[in-house]
Amino acid sequence: MKQVLLAFLLIASTSITAQNLHSPDGKLALHIKHNATTGSLTYTLHREKRPILKDGQLGLITRSGQNLSTHLQSIGSPIYQTIDSTYVMPWGENKINRDHFCEMILPYRTEEGATLSIVCRLYNEGMAIRYRYEGVRSDSVMIMDELTSFPFTAPAKTWSIPANNDTYELDYRTMTLDSLQDANTPITMELEGGLWASIHEAALTDYPEMTLSKKIGSRTLKATYTAAWRDGIMARMGHTFETPWRSIIIGTKAIDLVSYSAMWQHLNPACKIADTSWIRPLRYVGVWWGMHVGIQSWTMGERHGATTANAIRHIDFAADNGIEGVLFEGWNEGWETWGGEQKLNFMKPYADFNLDSIRKHAAQRGVKLMNHHETGGNVPYYESVLDSALRWSIAHDMHYLKTGYAGGYTNGEKHHGQYAVRHYRRVVETAAKYGIMVNAHEPIKDTGIRRTWPNMMTREGAKGMEWNAWSRGNSPEHHSILVFTRLLSGPMDYTPGVFDILHSKTKTSPQYRNWNNEDEGNSRLNTTRAGQIAAWIVLYSPWQMASDLPEHYEGENAFQFFKDYRADIDESFPLFGYPGREYGVVRRAGDRFFLGVITGNEAYTMPRQSLHFLRPHTTYEARIYIDGKDADWRTNPLPVDIHTLYVTGEDMLPVLKIAAGGGVAISFIPVEK
Ligand code: NOJ
Ligand code: CA
Repeated sequence: MKQVLLAFLLIASTSITAQNLHSPDGKLALHIKHNATTGSLTYTLHREKRPILKDGQLGLITRSGQNLSTHLQSIGSPIYQTIDSTYVMPWGENKINRDHFCEMILPYRTEEGATLSIVCRLYNEGMAIRYRYEGVRSDSVMIMDELTSFPFTAPAKTWSIPANNDTYELDYRTMTLDSLQDANTPITMELEGGLWASIHEAALTDYPEMTLSKKIGSRTLKATYTAAWRDGIMARMGHTFETPWRSIIIGTKAIDLVSYSAMWQHLNPACKIADTSWIRPLRYVGVWWGMHVGIQSWTMGERHGATTANAIRHIDFAADNGIEGVLFEGWNEGWETWGGEQKLNFMKPYADFNLDSIRKHAAQRGVKLMNHHETGGNVPYYESVLDSALRWSIAHDMHYLKTGYAGGYTNGEKHHGQYAVRHYRRVVETAAKYGIMVNAHEPIKDTGIRRTWPNMMTREGAKGMEWNAWSRGNSPEHHSILVFTRLLSGPMDYTPGVFDILHSKTKTSPQYRNWNNEDEGNSRLNTTRAGQIAAWIVLYSPWQMASDLPEHYEGENAFQFFKDYRADIDESFPLFGYPGREYGVVRRAGDRFFLGVITGNEAYTMPRQSLHFLRPHTTYEARIYIDGKDADWRTNPLPVDIHTLYVTGEDMLPVLKIAAGGGVAISFIPVEK
């Protein structure tokens, strides 16, 4: 009896206040509840009156001292604003971006007298929440955990990679929300009842990455940090700070997520580079695949890939085919230390790589040189030479830079911790100072920072093409899962376009050496050749590579597609799709259009597709590159049929039969009048 009375008294004395925010179209509603008794915060998110996330927790856990999750006192009414602005990116899936949201800021006083504000935004596309802290003293705050949770009200099917503090190069899992234990973001879900959602973070600037954890059987995902500093601290913050945004996008179809994911870019500050005219997309080839398939080496020697002769051959191949850039890996001294001391010299070419004559030749032929810095994870050393290495790079005509972090950090820090986040950002900002664009491999995940630093062009951050060279390879579903997960966060330097699907021309060569522990001698690409061509359109990257050896493209009619393709995309129109199965998208680059469709492990018959996206009153030559008769990624991956049609926007495409693990790519080029 006493207990019942106590419970009654507690409920009676609990005062809960709710503050509400609606999205511009009114469909999403966020309610933040403050419990004045405990001083804790929870939130609920509705879509068209249906609760999607219910009683999610909010708050941060610090090492000691500051309490940032309970005993919070409300110190004022919410501050509301609605912003509707447009910004133009120098490149992107869509150059014109509308940033339209309603914001609510809720300020609370912590026990120590600091201010913790909950900053909430609702877009039509989704919700974003971040913590803003303003301390009273000048002490720093050591964050150890956070309470933010995403309690789903419905069961769901999910697509994600596991949480890991050092790599994203992991196989995607398709599993129920109930059975999931942890995930990295973006994690994509098909919610029972017909909605699609993806959770991710935005504006990761000076913080460890957020992963998600949960108990089996529960439907509550909790924000978790897996990458601590060496001393166990998760985030070292100053006396005022903002966390990255914790956010979710919600749509009614899987392809809504592809368009809505621009929200994560909008959530970043405006561009900090005054003149962006030097920031350019391009197509490229490179001295790269030969090393991965084991017929060349990064180190100097008999099998050296980056020799002067091979560089000139690549430059000529690029120039002859209208391809803008050439990447060189293994051009610089020190590759012998890769996997050991990890000290490559970014200012000294190997003796058999005559950079001066290569530069001269590239300039004559109008081809851009793309530099490569493999740090091997020796970040302290890389930071110590960064400025001089970048200055040296531009002095040698190299404004395009691929970086790499293949190896554990030599100082024991983690690839996804705050230390690393700071480092990756420092490279981007230093590069911007020198007019250099960056493509990071083994990066920190993309959280939309290209809005602020558009010289951060593309990155890896998932299993890319290299895995097909020396491991069991990426599954036939991999590309269409990437579209709905990794690629929602931003572009990926996947490097599609290998034509020698079975490595029949390389692994049989006397030059071949098995150089990688993952290589069991059965590597191949688990797609068709047409599937590779379509991937150039589908797997968006502003730097798009034709990754095979030039000799594998010589004489191949299907390579015409890449010659006609343009990396400088203006806008994109996702058509249809489902993760792991088929996906179709149209991209416009200037007056050209490209339509790409890929499949998963099953063949797909694409119904007649309207061409309404084409410009009116214009006739286009449509060249279709599609899986040939009886093509199948398992048994017959090579045949590509090429047909030409003349079409206008009033026409429909014929029914197209796409093989399992296959694809179709169509270029639409206006016919001169
Ligand atoms: C891993 C990168 O992903 C790959 O592209 C590169 O060739 C190697 N590291 C060597 O730097
Ligand atoms: Ca890699």
